[in-house]
Amino acid sequence: MKTLVGIDDIAVYVPRLYLELASEEHPEKPTEFSRARESDPAKYLHGIGIAKMSIPDTYQDSSVLATNAIFELIERNNLSPANIARIDIATETGVDESKPVAAYVHGMLEQKYGKGAFKKTSGVEYKFACVSTADALESSLDWAWAGRANGRSSIVCSTDIAKYPLNTPGESTQGAGAVALLVREEPRLLSFDNVIGTYMEDEDDFWRPLFSTTAVVHGKHSEKCYLKAMEGAVDHWAEQAEAAKLIKAGPGESLVDHVGPMSFHVPYPKMAEKGFAYLLRHFWRGLPRWTEVTRKIGDEPKALSFKKREEFEKAESEYMRHFMETPQFQKEYLDKVADGLIHARESGNSYSASEKSCLSMLLETKARKGVDLAGRRGGSGNYGSGSKAKVSSWVFQEGWNEVAKKFGHSEKLQHRRPVSLIEYEALHEAGPLPDGRKFVAEPENEFVLIDVTPQGYRHYKFTD
Ligand code: HMG
Repeated sequence: MKTLVGIDDIAVYVPRLYLELASEEHPEKPTEFSRARESDPAKYLHGIGIAKMSIPDTYQDSSVLATNAIFELIERNNLSPANIARIDIATETGVDESKPVAAYVHGMLEQKYGKGAFKKTSGVEYKFACVSTADALESSLDWAWAGRANGRSSIVCSTDIAKYPLNTPGESTQGAGAVALLVREEPRLLSFDNVIGTYMEDEDDFWRPLFSTTAVVHGKHSEKCYLKAMEGAVDHWAEQAEAAKLIKAGPGESLVDHVGPMSFHVPYPKMAEKGFAYLLRHFWRGLPRWTEVTRKIGDEPKALSFKKREEFEKAESEYMRHFMETPQFQKEYLDKVADGLIHARESGNSYSASEKSCLSMLLETKARKGVDLAGRRGGSGNYGSGSKAKVSSWVFQEGWNEVAKKFGHSEKLQHRRPVSLIEYEALHEAGPLPDGRKFVAEPENEFVLIDVTPQGYRHYKFTD
């Protein structure tokens, strides 16, 4: 029998600062941010789905976020450096044009485990906007499937700081974080199917030029690119899954019926919810349940019936809203997707780290609710602007819930402090903090960036 390969454990690093966009307790009450941007907090909470955005402190960059997540993963699993064959990093906010975050991570870890401890551990930086995590993971899985692991593990870590200019529509979809995955043979959490769907084309929906610390984005266009690419990748996955006889839909069934919990790239929670709704519409068309849905909300709008593109788009957006209100959609959404989105609602977008952070939250929440998922199949959908989507599927392993219960993810979201608007804007613009402070929150047993010299040397240390 083929060796099972997949994710054995997950460690998330959440920055300890956040900016409140809207209050969960008093949704109608303006926040400092909504007042400053002359906006309704309900737009953030209900329109976009983000209540808080994680904000990195002055001593944090993407290398530090990654190392903190990886360090926790190594310590929790008592891993020996000699047994870690590779530590690959997915990021689109790396710290150097040439030296990869993977090298800085090595340096920081060796401060803890001794010089040379990781000299036989390989590492590379993957870049393709938010989807690079899927590429990094695919490479680790392929390496293990090819029989090269020989009992050793690999770590895939995604790390990013999502940043748009102040006072732009993208501003409320920022965030930061890192997530480290332990990839192993005979994994305790999820074993991956050897079937990965891809859809790629050259798109200008979002990018960050070399000269800029913030992204350029065509927001509305990027949402369409997300849906189109995700649908293409799911179709590609479905073709292969059927050919490999992983899944067979019976009469009146859809392939999605055979996939349980799902986690998507989450630039903001409403986007993932819409993405899921788009996929259900795609897979339910022609089924008896779709007849039931259309009996209630009417037939889907068709582009040809409209004189102007904008009119069709308005009708399409209205139709999506009606579909998302149906009990059929709500049941599937609450059962399969909603639990994972808690992370993004509380933390915002973390680009490449977003989907796997939401996967961590999904698994932890389901485990703590006592949902029995062993043997069930789940799926991941990653999207990266520019653009590419990747879709993969995996199977819950016996005992997965005992591992997931110990992630400590929810506790990390609670162990944070809010920043004021002045602090947030100073951190965003790398300007001086109020009262000449060097940072907002004291570091706590973690790696920090000490300085960057004029030649670009970067110095890091662990603070006890
Ligand atoms: P915007 O102009 O700020 O927002 O742009 P809006 O006016 O369109 O409102 C957003 C939603 O809130 C709308 O709902 C409004 O109706 C609703 P929709 O019609 O879309 O269903 N709304 C309200 N709801 C309740 N109460 C209210 C209220 N007011 C409005 N009072 C946008 C939003 C997301 C475009 C912007 O924030 C943006 O540009 N974000 C960055 C780009 C982005 O996240 N794109 C997502 C897809 S691309 C992607 O995922 C890749 C990415 O992660 C990068 C990578 O790959 O590296 C971005």
